[in-house]
Amino acid sequence: MNSENVVDAAPHPAWLPDGALAAVGRRRLTLRTPDLPGPAHGGPHPRPDGSPEVVATLRAELDRATTAHGGAVVDPGGSPDLVLALAASSVLTSSSNGRNEDHVSTLDAEAGAAGFRFVRSAGRVTVTAATPTALLHGWFHAVRLGEAAFAGPDADEHHAPAFALRVLDHWDNVDVHPVMGQVERGYSGGSVFYDDGRVRADLSRVTTYARLLAATGIDRVCVNNVNVHAREARLLTDDLPEVARIAAALRPYGVRTHLAVSFAAPMTLGGLPTSDPLDADVGAWWRAAADRVWAAVPDFGGFVVKADSEGQPGPFAYGRDHADGANALAEAVAPHGGVVHWRAFVYDHRQDWRDRSTDRARAAYDHFAPLDGRFADNVVLQVKHGPMDFQTREPVSPVLAAMPGTRVALELQVTQEYTGQQRHAVYLAPWWRESLAFRPWGEGDEGGPAVRDLVASGGVAAVSNVGDDRFWTGHPLAQANLYAFGRLAWDPTLDPSALLDEWVSLTFARPDGTVEPRVREVLHAVLDDSWRTYESYTAPLGVGFMVRPGHHYGPDVDGYEYTPWGTYHFADRDGVGVDRTRATGTGFTGQYPAPWRDVYEDVATCPDELLLFFHHVPYSHVLHSGVTVIQHVYDSRSEGVERVRGAVAAWESLADLVPDAVPADVDARVRERLAEQLRSAVEWRDQVSTYFLRKSGVPDARGRTIY
Ligand code: GCU
Repeated sequence: MNSENVVDAAPHPAWLPDGALAAVGRRRLTLRTPDLPGPAHGGPHPRPDGSPEVVATLRAELDRATTAHGGAVVDPGGSPDLVLALAASSVLTSSSNGRNEDHVSTLDAEAGAAGFRFVRSAGRVTVTAATPTALLHGWFHAVRLGEAAFAGPDADEHHAPAFALRVLDHWDNVDVHPVMGQVERGYSGGSVFYDDGRVRADLSRVTTYARLLAATGIDRVCVNNVNVHAREARLLTDDLPEVARIAAALRPYGVRTHLAVSFAAPMTLGGLPTSDPLDADVGAWWRAAADRVWAAVPDFGGFVVKADSEGQPGPFAYGRDHADGANALAEAVAPHGGVVHWRAFVYDHRQDWRDRSTDRARAAYDHFAPLDGRFADNVVLQVKHGPMDFQTREPVSPVLAAMPGTRVALELQVTQEYTGQQRHAVYLAPWWRESLAFRPWGEGDEGGPAVRDLVASGGVAAVSNVGDDRFWTGHPLAQANLYAFGRLAWDPTLDPSALLDEWVSLTFARPDGTVEPRVREVLHAVLDDSWRTYESYTAPLGVGFMVRPGHHYGPDVDGYEYTPWGTYHFADRDGVGVDRTRATGTGFTGQYPAPWRDVYEDVATCPDELLLFFHHVPYSHVLHSGVTVIQHVYDSRSEGVERVRGAVAAWESLADLVPDAVPADVDARVRERLAEQLRSAVEWRDQVSTYFLRKSGVPDARGRTIY
C-alpha cells in the first residue's frame, strides 16, 4: 500500500507543546544576527551549520512563542527580556573536547564552536553563540529552563556539548523488507523518511522531528539502516536528489545528514570487479562518490559502515583488516570534512553451539584492539555499550578502554529491541548514565577516566526509536528515552531522574506552562526504576537473551540455546551461566584492565547483576544479596510482576486528571501498553520460573505457584 506519502498532519507535540514555550513566549524577545558568517574554515564548502536556514528558524521560533503567549519580538532597543545574539567566536570561551592532540582537526574545530554563553543580569537574559545552530541550542536551553531562566541571581555560564559527535541512527529501509519491515527493530509504525519504496513526498514531519532533536542538542542523523540492502545502497548514487530533500528537511534545525553505505558499493553500484580497499580504482570510486554526495548536500556529515558483520560485506574478503577498510572511505570524505562511523559489531554469527571455546563477547576486542592507532583521524569506531548486543544488562565493552589512539564512540539503542519494544515502559537513561560513568581502571582517586571521557572525541550514537506513529515512539512514555539520550549526549553527567523531570515539565506542560504535580509524581513512580523492573522479570543476573528468536519479544528461555548466534546460557540440572574467566572459561575477563579483570574473574567479587554473564554457577550459589541463584530467579520474577502492577495502579490514579493534565489520547495509549506489559511480565515470570524449576528440581522456598 502506498498512502501517497501522506503522514499524520498533527503528530503529538512530544516535549514541545506550545505550553512548553510559555515562559519565553510571554516575554519580549530579540534576535541579533549582525553579520552572518561566511564559508567555514576558509574552505570551499558552505558552513556545516546551515546558517541562513537556521537563522530563519530562530526567527520563526520567536514568532511562534510570542504569538502563542502574548509576548513580543522587539528591537534591541525595545527593552528585551531575552536577547539571542550571533557573535564572533572570540566572545566565547573555547572548549576542549579532552582529546590529547597537538592539532585541531575539522571535527574538533566544529565542536569548539558548538557551545553558547548564557548571561543573566538583573533578570535579563542574553544568549550568545558563534553559529546559528549553537544559538538555536541556546534558545532551547532557555525554553527548558522556563521561568527559571529569568529568575535567580545573576549568572554567566558557558554551555558546550561534551561530545563532538551526537548522532541518531535510523535503521529505516526504503523498501519494506520482507522480514524486518520498513524499519528494522522499529516499534513505532513506519519510517518518517520512506514509505513503501520511496522517500516521502511530504517531509514536513522530518522537520518537526529535527525540531525535537534540536531541543535536546542532537545535530546529526543517519537516515538509513546499517544493513544496506540493494535498494538502500542506491541512496548513495541515483537517489542523491532524494537524500538532498531529506537533508533540506533536517537542515532548518541544524541537523546534518549521514548515510549508511555498503562496503561492496564499488562493485554493486560502480561495476568494479573488486571492493578491495587498497585497490586504486576502488579508492577513486569512493572519492568520486563522496564528491557527488557533497555536491548534492554541502553540509553532509559522513558515512556509517557495518562491515563483515551479520552478512554485510567487508574488508576480510580481500585479506584486509578493518583499519584498511575504514581508512579507504575516510580518505574519500576527508576533503569535505566528513567522518566515517565504522562499527565494531564484528563477530561470527555462524558459530557452532557445541563449540565452547568461541565467545561472541570477545570478538570486537579481538578484532579491533590490535588496530589501535591505525585509523585515520576522521574515522570514529562505533562500539556497542556491551560486548554482546544491547541486552538489558551487560558489562561495559572492554573495547572502549582498549583504543587510546582512536576516536571511539559509544553506541546505544534508544529503540527497545531487547527492552520491551516500546510496549513495556522502560526508561533507559539510568542504564546509559551508568555506562557513561563506568571507569575501566577503577573508581576513586586511584581510578582513571570514565567512559564519557574515553568517547569525548568520538561521541555517542544511538539507534532511534522514532517512526511515523502519532506519538513518534509507539509508547508515549518512550519519548522520554529519546529526550534523555539527546540530553546525555550533550552532558553525560546529568542525573536521569532530573532529566525525566525536565521531560515531564515540557511534555505535560498545560497551556500556561505549569504541570500538575501528581502527574510528575506518577511519571517518576512509573519510570525512574523501570529498567530494573524490566530486568527483574526477564533474563536473570546478566545472562541475557532468553527471547523469542527473530523478533526478540517475549520469553523463550532456550530460544537461542542451540542456534549459531553465540548467545547461550548453558543451563543444566546443576547450574547456569557462561564461564568467561581466564582460569577455566573463555578468557573474556582478560580483556579488561585491572581492577575489573580481577573483580569479574572472581565469583566472590563479581557483582550479582553480572554473575551469570561471567560465571557458570550452581543453583545453590549464594549471591551477595544473601539468597541463592535459584531463589533469586523465583523472587525477582515475582517481584517484577508486582512492580508492574504498581505502575498500572499508579497510572490509573491519574484518571481524574484526564484530559486537563493528561491528554486523553496519551492516557488511552499508555493504558493499552501497560496492560500488555503486565500480560508479558506474567508470561516472563511463569516461563522463566517454570523452566528453572524443571531444570533444577529445587522448589520455591516461598511456595508460589510454578508450573
Ligand atoms: C542486532 C539487531 C539487528 C541489527 C544488529 C546491528 O543484532 O537484532 O537487527 O542489524 O544488531 O546492530 O547491526
